[in-house]
Amino acid sequence: MKVCVIGAGYIGLTIAVCLAKMGNELLLLDIDAQKVKNINNKTSTIHENFLDELLQQVDIEMSSDPGKMEGAETIFICVGTPLNKNGSMSLEQVVEAAKQVSEVLKRREDYCLIVVKSTVPPGTTEDIVIPLLQKSGKKAGKDFGICMSPEFLSAGKAVYEFMNPSRIVVGQYDKRSGDGPLKLFSSFNVPILRTNLRTAEMIKLASNSFLATKISFMNEIGNICKQLGIDAYEVAKGMGFDDRIGSKFLNAGIGFGGSCLPKDLNILVAAAKETGYAPRILEEVLEFNDKQALKLIELLKKHILLNGATVGLLGLAFKPGTDDVRDSRAIRIVEALLKERAVVKAYDPVAISNFKKLFPQIGYVSREEILNCDAILITTEWEEFNELDYRGRIVIDGRRILKAREAKIYEGVCW
Ligand code: UGA
Repeated sequence: MKVCVIGAGYIGLTIAVCLAKMGNELLLLDIDAQKVKNINNKTSTIHENFLDELLQQVDIEMSSDPGKMEGAETIFICVGTPLNKNGSMSLEQVVEAAKQVSEVLKRREDYCLIVVKSTVPPGTTEDIVIPLLQKSGKKAGKDFGICMSPEFLSAGKAVYEFMNPSRIVVGQYDKRSGDGPLKLFSSFNVPILRTNLRTAEMIKLASNSFLATKISFMNEIGNICKQLGIDAYEVAKGMGFDDRIGSKFLNAGIGFGGSCLPKDLNILVAAAKETGYAPRILEEVLEFNDKQALKLIELLKKHILLNGATVGLLGLAFKPGTDDVRDSRAIRIVEALLKERAVVKAYDPVAISNFKKLFPQIGYVSREEILNCDAILITTEWEEFNELDYRGRIVIDGRRILKAREAKIYEGVCW
């Protein structure tokens, strides 16, 4: 099938590469000229497991010319939906993509399918995307099909999860629209839910909000455990055997970051408030998560005076397996350390260059040099942090690196 993917972020690029690997003819569109150049040179623009290898194996046409999507049978909209400075969501890129598709629809005589993959507030596909597409003079359900099919890929595991999805959710305008993505994914033997457009949009937001709530719940239990001298990880193990609870996403620590969970919670909170409903649990999860990262600083202050001390950070990425630092807990921690006039040194296996753009003023050193700091904070659970020799050091651990327990002074945030 001839497929076009608009937006070469980690979702769009992963989808394009995987669909090409499955034998489809792929066109990938992005306005970023550097991305176009890199991908045409078969260099991935993001750190994502297996993506570079797959990119070498497939043929993808990468371009910034929307006119090229003319022959595509299916068009995926995978552009970003970042938060504005005031916390509201920017649908600018979705609107721009819909306008580009609309221009192409004007000139097309044949039926094609448009699939919204970007995470958007409930109602966006129906109230914004479809009207923009229909400005072409073509009618949804007659001249073109339209679906909203959310993606549940995690950074670092996106390729694996694309090939082994937990479920496929297709919000469809009509039956013919919904049949399209299912044809593309017919080789996957997974639960399929066909629903309406709004429900599909809500399923994505509710899923991420649930994961965020689960993490915060476990962090709250962890904070209580810490007060009572109990190991939250043992508690989580005991809870996780109950399959109503499940053992995943019960890792207590300094909270969740990344470009998805915090943002999607914010989107859902805003959508709820617009209806006049006050989503108290979700708001509390966001507020609680903000404070959780600072627990590390509270614990550190028990052991050293921060003013003038050199504090080493192990981990800058929002989680292991990625160079993404968006909403990483390390950002809050560095801000707090600088406010306390500490000297900050940091190490991460892959995320230093992204973090440097946010904090050019701190020191970036090797992981061994971190060991010479007055105290060490562990902020991302990279496996390689288990290879360090922590003996004689002061370590405050936000992510449970077992080897760090050999430190002279060791404190876990929730254990
Ligand atoms: C998340 C969801 O897990 C994906 O299902 C979803 O598709 C994706 O957002 C998206 O909307 O695109 P991701 O942001 O890549 O994926 O990261 P997660 O693995 O969910 O981790 C998010 C944060 O939670 C990280 O900072 C991680 O360290 C933290 N976390 C995770 C915990 O603190 N404890 C846990 O038990 C699990």
